[in-house]
Amino acid sequence: MCGIVGYIGTQPAYSILIDGLKKLEYRGYDSAGVALLCAKGLKVEKAKGEIAMLEARVGNNFPEGNMGIGHTRWATHGAPSDINAHPHCGCSQEFAVVHNGIIENYLSLREWLEEQGHRFISETDTEVLAHLVEHYYDGDLLRAVSQAVKMVEGSFAMVAVCEQEGDKLICARKDSPLVIGLGEGENYIASDVPAFLKWTRHTHILEDGEMAVVTASAVSIFAPNGQLLQKEINEVTWDAAEAEKGGYPHFMLKEIMEQPRALRDTMRGRLIDEGRDINLTELALTPQQCQAIERIFIVACGTAYHAGLVGKYAMEKILRLPVEVDLASEFRYRDPLLDPNTLVLVISQSGETADTLAALRLARKRGNQILAITNVVGSSVARDADKVLYTWAGPEIAVASTKAYLTQLLSLYMLTLYLGKQRGILDGQTIAEMGTALCRLPTQLESILGREAELQQIADYLAPWESAFFIGRNVDYAVAMEGALKLKEISYIHAEAYASGELKHGTLALIVDGIPVIAMATQSAVLDKSLSNIKEIKARCGHVICFAREGAISFAQEVDRVFHIPAAPDILMPILSVVPLQLLAYYTAVARACPVDKPRNLAKSVTVE
Ligand code: AGP
Repeated sequence: MCGIVGYIGTQPAYSILIDGLKKLEYRGYDSAGVALLCAKGLKVEKAKGEIAMLEARVGNNFPEGNMGIGHTRWATHGAPSDINAHPHCGCSQEFAVVHNGIIENYLSLREWLEEQGHRFISETDTEVLAHLVEHYYDGDLLRAVSQAVKMVEGSFAMVAVCEQEGDKLICARKDSPLVIGLGEGENYIASDVPAFLKWTRHTHILEDGEMAVVTASAVSIFAPNGQLLQKEINEVTWDAAEAEKGGYPHFMLKEIMEQPRALRDTMRGRLIDEGRDINLTELALTPQQCQAIERIFIVACGTAYHAGLVGKYAMEKILRLPVEVDLASEFRYRDPLLDPNTLVLVISQSGETADTLAALRLARKRGNQILAITNVVGSSVARDADKVLYTWAGPEIAVASTKAYLTQLLSLYMLTLYLGKQRGILDGQTIAEMGTALCRLPTQLESILGREAELQQIADYLAPWESAFFIGRNVDYAVAMEGALKLKEISYIHAEAYASGELKHGTLALIVDGIPVIAMATQSAVLDKSLSNIKEIKARCGHVICFAREGAISFAQEVDRVFHIPAAPDILMPILSVVPLQLLAYYTAVARACPVDKPRNLAKSVTVE
């Protein structure tokens, strides 16, 4: 996610802004910039690349001034570039804005502003905010920002400054974090505490809909109705390292906990009318192009491959289209059969995985249309694909992928709905049923995330073992594969996933007294079969931990432990059922004192064959 820093006080602002942005670097970004109020007015400097690039551009003639804002950008709309970097200005250089979040209606706002005579220079949604503030400014920056954000649909954490009112920073937030650091004769604003922790531990946390006027000597916070609020002062007790992880002990746990927000951000503007409709205009696929697709070939590696397996089940079930899923490292060397009407769907969190990129380029050489699902704007995969459906999970730091994987699943479901709509095989009611069920998932997920203690207890059983099995039928098998990989890659327990029906064809020989078997049981149509497989294991004294959908047949008396998962439509259950497996892997790795965020031998992005 992007990083925001603001400062107003008696010290030179530039070095404080740069230092604050560096404290947010761990969040991942692709460009940076600052705007400072100097004697000659607002000075804006920004650069693609690392903060060091910005510093090099500024050199020793860094702008003086003791008020300013800074930003590190994680691109969502518009590739990483100098122009797309924040801060963004209006037509004049008198206003500057930095922003985290996604403005869903930025295109319509941009058109309206252009009709009012505004001229845009970037591809970003954020630039709209700067022009809106400029448009509404009539001598009161707070009122101008208040009117601007009322026009916005989507999420924002923003800070605005203007030359005419150089003694204040105005900030507003909705669905994206913003905190105010309270100093002596100076004050700070940031998207995250580490940016100003070296200066102050006293903070005000802005809540959704609140706005603030921050001067060197005072902080005034207003409720959505304009009422002045008396906010309590929070004391930050974390140290700097903990603060980078949002107070969590590891990035992986932080990213697991961020998944509801990652889902909400990724569906924002795409599942519209509260999920009753789907809108993937960024793909710009006509109904004819969608109807011409006769086959889908999903290519990916690792966790992304497991996402593709879930996509296969969903697409074949709903679109009645043949879907093949292949490991990119196999696809690229097996001379695959690709006819012209095969859509090649490439999935990659980093967008830089060498095997996946090579597979994409092979498909391109064959002349196939390529659609990418990736989390990194401007990545190699994004640049080489014909169409891109971005996941908006924000940067994923832990090597083990969690929130990126979950948003890949969501993107596959949304793509399925979109193709079904464009191909005319899904009616409005069917789309609404699935779309509203998708919109309910983040809240259902929050209920699961609150049950860590149950998973810690299961992890205590798992931790001493050197092998474990994951089993499932239908789409549960795909989830079992991801659960096994999570456990393997961070706890080093040798975990294998099997289709439940396969056990008696060999694996049952390995079931010995007490060995842990994670049994997925969320698919209504095969619950009784799943129960039979569990009994096969119990008859041989395996230790069965069952992850079962709520309200289904009771497994409790048949297994050693059951974890109930809130019910959603069968085909959507992977988004809920994989998360307890992520937490189980995490707590097992912690119990085994493994380096959770950086497991041995692994890299976050495998850019070599
Ligand atoms: C995920 O937990 C693993 N770290 C790994 O399997 C990863 O999914 C794989 O390397 C693919 O990465 P990508 O999504 O960036 O292409």
